[in-house]
Amino acid sequence: MKKRKCNNILAIETSCDDTSLALLVDNKIIFNKTITRNDLHLKYGGIVPELAARNHADVITELLDELTNATKFDLNNLDYIAYTAFPGLPGSLHIGKVFAKTLSFLLNKPIIKIDHMLAHAYSFSIDNNKLIKYPFLCLDASGGHTTIYLFKSLNKYKVLNDAQDDAIGECLDKIGRILSLPYPGGISINRIYDPNKDNLKMIHHYLPNEPFSLSGLKTHVSNYVNSLKMKKQKIDKVLIASSVLKWCIDELLIKLIYYLSKYKVKFVVIGGGVAANSLLRKQINNIKNKVILVDKKYCGDNAAMIANLANLLVNNKKSI
Ligand code: KG4
Ligand code: ZN
Repeated sequence: MKKRKCNNILAIETSCDDTSLALLVDNKIIFNKTITRNDLHLKYGGIVPELAARNHADVITELLDELTNATKFDLNNLDYIAYTAFPGLPGSLHIGKVFAKTLSFLLNKPIIKIDHMLAHAYSFSIDNNKLIKYPFLCLDASGGHTTIYLFKSLNKYKVLNDAQDDAIGECLDKIGRILSLPYPGGISINRIYDPNKDNLKMIHHYLPNEPFSLSGLKTHVSNYVNSLKMKKQKIDKVLIASSVLKWCIDELLIKLIYYLSKYKVKFVVIGGGVAANSLLRKQINNIKNKVILVDKKYCGDNAAMIANLANLLVNNKKSI
């Protein structure tokens, strides 16, 4: 019998608060749905790990029903079950792992463990694997990471720069909280950003090769807001939020441009939740090299990127 070349992969992503399932058939994503319950965490101003994990358990089976109803795909025809194994919130990861193992047991299908960060890095290639050319640089700007990678082959990479304290999304979320903006702060700050009001003095930028550090910025904003409160002066949220965002995007670009001058690469990929930011997407015009911006629908956490990386690994017969 002729061996079937394509892979049918069910992918599970539960690393943080988003519950996502995707189905890849014949190298194409035919289903990708993410359930985000910001409302659960809203009143706490940040993700509550226990609530996130419980919510995964509550919605994941309904999501699988939705997948099979929408695609009419028989799960017995799967070749692999891929799930996010790390990094992430332990309780959240555990739900994805148990779900994957249960399906693997019931359907007798092998499991592929996926590195969430690598999956983000390759999310630019979800709908077109031909885009992948080495070497390339990747900036992952998300709630958990601010990392610049140099990719030399599928899973051979070097971390050139990394956050030494808060990740950029985390920092924007915390500053959003200081300014009493709705959670998640990153999205709120994006929404109210005003280019005519982004000139409030912030801290100095770091040297390009110094690690990403955002705790100084956070402390600066916190002190500034507290001093206004003590003096009973008006807090101009738009001015503060716009200046913070401008500082963060400038800091990202200073570092990216520096590494692009040091390494000869085919292109630079920008992904992760913060890559959906409008100012960042506009400011990349300042980069002379070819830039691939991850499609907004694949910037945040999603299972399509898990399926995509699993497919790349299977096709390359590699494992992480
Ligand atoms: O990649 P992601 O969905 O989750 C992980 O951290 O893995 O990123 C979530 C982060 C949150 O901190 C959120 O505030 C931020 O991405 N974010 C944004 C925007 N959309 C999401 N930050 C700035 N501008 C946006 N448009
Ligand atoms: Zn992520």
